[in-house]
This record gives sequence, C-alpha cells and structure tokens, in this order.
Amino acid sequence: MKRILFVCLGNICRSPLAEGIAQHLIATRHLPYQVDSAGTGSWHEGEAPCTNSQKVARLHGIDISHQRARAVTPKDKEAFDMIVVMDRSNLKTLQDRGFEKLYLLGDFGEYGGADVPDPYYFDGFEGFEKVFAMIEDAMKAFFDQLQKEENYNK
Ligand code: 4NP
Repeated sequence: MKRILFVCLGNICRSPLAEGIAQHLIATRHLPYQVDSAGTGSWHEGEAPCTNSQKVARLHGIDISHQRARAVTPKDKEAFDMIVVMDRSNLKTLQDRGFEKLYLLGDFGEYGGADVPDPYYFDGFEGFEKVFAMIEDAMKAFFDQLQKEENYNK
C-alpha cells in the first residue's frame, strides 16, 4: 500500500482538495493508496478547509469538510512513500528541511511543471474552479503513471 502525502502552504485550500480528489479516485478506481495532506506552515492547524475549497469540492460531489489542517512534521519523512507538493515554494521549503521523495503535482498531465496557484489570495470563487480542475487533471495523470509503473514492475 503506497502512502502519499499532499503538501501546500496552509493545508486549508489546495492540499485538502488534493487529498479529497485523490481519495475520490482511490475509491472509484479501487487503488491501493493511502493519502493525507499537510501544510509547510502551522498557522491554520486544526482548521477545516477554507469555505471556497469545501464549496468547489461539494459541487464536484466530494466532501472535504471533515478534514483538519496540520503541519508537516519530520515523522512524515518515514511515514510516506511519496510527497507531492502544490508549488515550487513548498518544494524548496521541504528540500531545505531534508525531505526526499518529493514530486511537483504540476509535473503530471498537461501542466508542464506549473505551480498550482495559491487561491488564498484569489478574489472570489472563480479561481477555485480552475484550481480544482488543475488538481483533478494532474491527479488523474499522476495515478495513471503510478499504475503504469506498478504494472511494469509486476
Ligand atoms: P493553501 O493556501 O496553501 O492552499 O492552504 C494558503 C492558506 C493560508 C495561507 C497561505 C496559503 N496563509 O498564509 O495563512
């Protein structure tokens, strides 16, 4: 069972969507992965995902309201097989803290290594639809690639 951690800055907007979307794909595709999410910062620990992330997820049939924010800890280095970050700033933060097995979500699919933009600074809801679509597309490509590799290694 592969364990995958999704990381952004606050763990209240982007990585909760990544966790929820991944969980949804795992359930519908019966994939052998365990997922969680965390933030490089701890300002929002214990909080539910931001209202707009909960809203956009719900519009797509995914409930993320039960999630609670937490910060990345050194234990996550051993607890997870892969750590998938939302942007280059998250990547640098975790590299500086000695994390390995790091991947950029935007490297999967059609996004050419783009950062998932931080919707915390968005004005209104519209940007959350774009972020949802980007995370969903990249997640599908990521899981497709993992499954291909696993079949190849059988
Ligand atoms: P996230 O968005 O990294 O997608 O959860 C943010 C949430 C909070 C902050 C920054 C980004 N903040 O600075 O508090």
